Amino acid sequence: MKNTIVVGSQWGDEGKAKVIDVLAEHADVVIRFQGGANAGHTVVVGDQEFVFHLIPSAIMRPTKTCVIGNGVVLDPAQLLHEIEELEGRGFDVRGRLWLAENMQIVMPWHVQLDKLKEKAAGKNAIGTTGRGIGPAYVDKVARSGIRLVDLLDPEGLRLKVESILEEKNILFTKVYEAEALVAAPIVAQYLEYGRKLAPLVANTALLLEKAIKAGKPLLFEGAQGTILDVDHGTYPYVTSSNTIAGSACCGSGVGPTAIQSVIGVVKAYTTRVGNGPFPTELDGELGEKLRTWGGEFGATTGRPRRCGWFDAMVVRKAVRVNGITGLAITKVDVLDQLPEVQICVGYKIDGRLIEDLPVQMREFENVEPVLETMPGWMADTSKAVSWADLPNGAKRYLERLAELSGAPIAMVSVGPRRDQAIFLP
Ligand code: IMP
Repeated sequence: MKNTIVVGSQWGDEGKAKVIDVLAEHADVVIRFQGGANAGHTVVVGDQEFVFHLIPSAIMRPTKTCVIGNGVVLDPAQLLHEIEELEGRGFDVRGRLWLAENMQIVMPWHVQLDKLKEKAAGKNAIGTTGRGIGPAYVDKVARSGIRLVDLLDPEGLRLKVESILEEKNILFTKVYEAEALVAAPIVAQYLEYGRKLAPLVANTALLLEKAIKAGKPLLFEGAQGTILDVDHGTYPYVTSSNTIAGSACCGSGVGPTAIQSVIGVVKAYTTRVGNGPFPTELDGELGEKLRTWGGEFGATTGRPRRCGWFDAMVVRKAVRVNGITGLAITKVDVLDQLPEVQICVGYKIDGRLIEDLPVQMREFENVEPVLETMPGWMADTSKAVSWADLPNGAKRYLERLAELSGAPIAMVSVGPRRDQAIFLP
């Protein structure tokens, strides 16, 4: 296998975990490179279901190495919880899971600030997952973050936390009229996390270089989706990291020339959680049906996902900004019962077609999607094991999605199980 980046090509929740799980069979090392515990990856193996927020799901394959790279913002309590759950269910992670020593830590003030900001924003709230992601990235860029390596340095951590809280507590008490945070218990708690995580801390960029030199294939596991990217998404209704393929390099310390392929995961329709524009959203009965059939509820927050038709404007942009070499189209089976399906092929503003997604959100809220209608296939796709097994209607629909998106289909997924995946040459 080539060194491959897998990214979400819509607003997240495209079914990346399943695609990554299937591709991981052919990789040696799987790397998370951005985001944090805002991601929720559900993987079904046999009759067991696992939800991961931080650990690459490939950890369930006993021969694979997993890395959480420097681009991630790490909530150590959540990570330890995942490790304990995996170990409790018989999966050994020691010696196979490595954490970048220069990774940023999500601290209690980040979570508190995320929630206070959202509450204060009222109807203008972003609809975040409340995991402290935005504030943690703010502090990273402001050069006032705590890194994993700091959790291994008791005196250094105490000095940093005390100095950071001097400033944060003014914000909490004076601006938000909230309780101040106390340094000592936080320092004690995070040193305890550091002690527990110490055996997993590594220079992961070096580890990855050695893997590349040994010819071991790497698989980069993106979280969220392209249109939630802080630069290329529907700003400000985005997450606070770069979610696109280029971020895999910054977030892992691997150079771009080491990457040979980029798989863009797209759902056969569109969903979004949180606020912000969504031109193909279906508010009524049909949206409700897609939500029910597709089990469209957030893996992290349990929130119902907003559902709508496939939006080729969105995926065309994703193909461009990620350099996607192949599409993995998921959840095709969710559309099996529809007599007809629609695709958004363009956007109009004031009756005029526009070439790309508007950058100005007030314009984006007003775009009129141009919809193309195709007959449905009204047949079960979930048992198809090859392209030839798919009903003709489904094949035509998928071919049209690829044509409009500008990238070939690499894989089609017709259900949550590992074996419900069709690979195209
Ligand atoms: P945050 O990442 O918690 O700051 O949330 C910012 C926006 O990104 C909100 O609209 C969230 O619903 C969305 N978001 C964050 N993580 C995910 C994800 O894994 N899937 C889908 N949406 C997400």
